[in-house]
Amino acid sequence: MTILVTGAAGFIGSNFVLDWLAQSDETVINLDDLTYAGNLENLASLDGDARHIFIKGSIGDFDLVAKLLAEHQPRAVVNFAAESHVDRSIHGPEDFIQTNIVGTFRLLEAVRAFYGQLEKTAKNQFRFLHVSTDEVYGSLAKDDPAFTETHQYEPNSPYSASKAASDHLVRAYHHTYGLPVLTTNCSNNYGPYHFPEKLIPLVIHNALAGKPLPIYGDGQQIRDWLYVKDHCSAIRRVLEAGRLGETYNVGGWNEKPNLDVVHTLCAILDELSPRADGKAYKEQITYVTDRPGHDRRYAIDATKIERELGWKPAETFETGIKKTVQWYLDNQGWVANVTSGAYREWLGKQYGESK
Ligand code: NAD
Ligand code: DAU
Repeated sequence: MTILVTGAAGFIGSNFVLDWLAQSDETVINLDDLTYAGNLENLASLDGDARHIFIKGSIGDFDLVAKLLAEHQPRAVVNFAAESHVDRSIHGPEDFIQTNIVGTFRLLEAVRAFYGQLEKTAKNQFRFLHVSTDEVYGSLAKDDPAFTETHQYEPNSPYSASKAASDHLVRAYHHTYGLPVLTTNCSNNYGPYHFPEKLIPLVIHNALAGKPLPIYGDGQQIRDWLYVKDHCSAIRRVLEAGRLGETYNVGGWNEKPNLDVVHTLCAILDELSPRADGKAYKEQITYVTDRPGHDRRYAIDATKIERELGWKPAETFETGIKKTVQWYLDNQGWVANVTSGAYREWLGKQYGESK
């Protein structure tokens, strides 16, 4: 058996593939366009492993996806591929529209054609799992209840709007064409291989580099943090037993204001890797201009996935964040290659491009 995983050179996709192959011998076809966020170094431990087949290419390339599906006959497609950074979407929304909306549409078209010609048994087994975000639901006020799956869509950034559009397309392909889809809407992930443009890895990197730790606005925005390996286990569980056409919210029950997260990171670093001058890392905290349209609070109600599928996160924020800081301390070479751009040079050599 085989599964096709898109965007699996990115943060969550690479964690998903590593976890998948640690637990199963089912081959993974990894389709990734290797944008700035794609880094095959994340999967270096799979070098020479025949169960991982990497294909460089876009989910928006209908012919390529159709060829891969015909050749490998996967029993499932898991779609992680996306532009994922809110700040980048504010500076330049075009790539988000192209990948998250047009790309997902073309991927769905190729999958629809493939699914249409499967035999009955293969059809019954086939799944298309779309990985989405809690940001499609918009922003909560302080005392609002957490997002359930029936919360209305109110995306506020070009990123979340493009993800919302992709969720609607996935839903429509189920209702119109009977494609066996599943959608997960997850809260903020953190953990190994997180690109250091996002809050947690950026703060760890800047702290160790002696740089400012930028806090947008008053730092009281709230996110609901989930250790990445818990997200991966939720996706595996939904793939295994989720009801077709359903959406499942995935979250860590770990709501934290950004400033608390940054203080926690500073305190762990003070303990594990103290500053040479003996001062506290929190002295590097700097307040900067807020993100335009900044969502104030996200919170996921993950009751449905627990009730229906028995999934619960294994990590608390306290255990997951300590592991994460330790991972970054142990993998400074990975961080250096990402922040210096050295990983892009290698990709350029390997794939003949310098994008
Ligand atoms: P990421 O930016 O780290 O990785 C995205 C990957 O997709 C990269 O490897 C990139 O090269 C690849 N990619 C981009 N465009 C592509 C295309 N056209 N074709 C093929 N591959 C392409 O993102 P991430 O944080 O790992 O997020 C993965 C998915 O999970 C996204 O769909 C995101 O919306 C969703 N999500 C992320 C979080 C989070 O906290 N990071 C939370 C909930 C949901
Ligand atoms: O909620 C799920 C989403 O979480 C995913 O869909 C996105 O792909 C993922 O990037 C993430 O979005 P956020 O915008 O919440 O993550 P980010 O790490 O960019 O920011 C987290 C919070 O920290 C947010 O309130 C903005 C703030 N922030 C971020 C950065 C990079 C700062 O205060 N300073 C910073 O330098």
